[in-house]
Amino acid sequence: MAPRDIIVIPDKRLRLKSEPVAKVDDSIRMLVEQMFEAMYAAPGIGLAAIQLGEPKRVVTMDIAKKDDPKEPQVFINPEILWTSDEKNVHEEGCLSIPEYYEEVERPAEVKVKYMDIEGKPHEVHATGLLATCLQHEIDHLNGILFIDHISKLKRDRVVKKYSKQAKRAAEG
Ligand code: NI
Repeated sequence: MAPRDIIVIPDKRLRLKSEPVAKVDDSIRMLVEQMFEAMYAAPGIGLAAIQLGEPKRVVTMDIAKKDDPKEPQVFINPEILWTSDEKNVHEEGCLSIPEYYEEVERPAEVKVKYMDIEGKPHEVHATGLLATCLQHEIDHLNGILFIDHISKLKRDRVVKKYSKQAKRAAEG
């Protein structure tokens, strides 16, 4: 089967606040599988369930370097417990805002608690790319996009561009 489509701005579903997962059951395991499929096919390093149109607090990620073995990670109901005062600037992109990249400043380190695919609780102290990705994906679960962290001028410009494209596509 072909991977599921990833929704792009200005799709309003990207602004939804996703619901916590009550229990990791077959439907969640199926969703996670579909998320990895779509994420690897894109290709991307992180995906939130809402990007497949499912408002559930589920994140998939693989930040392994291109030629290294895959390192699939699943974060269910991830929650930021602590952020460092020290900030970091990373260039970010998003599969829901294709081919747009911009530098974003965020806390350099975060402590996050989450459940794994077995439903077991974990806590991770993340730095570097993992810290950035976790914050980017947890933002998605709250209806926040990385362009919300850049200047309004830049944001308006990119939203306008994608709105025009969507309109053109709808008109055929
Ligand atoms: Ni994203």
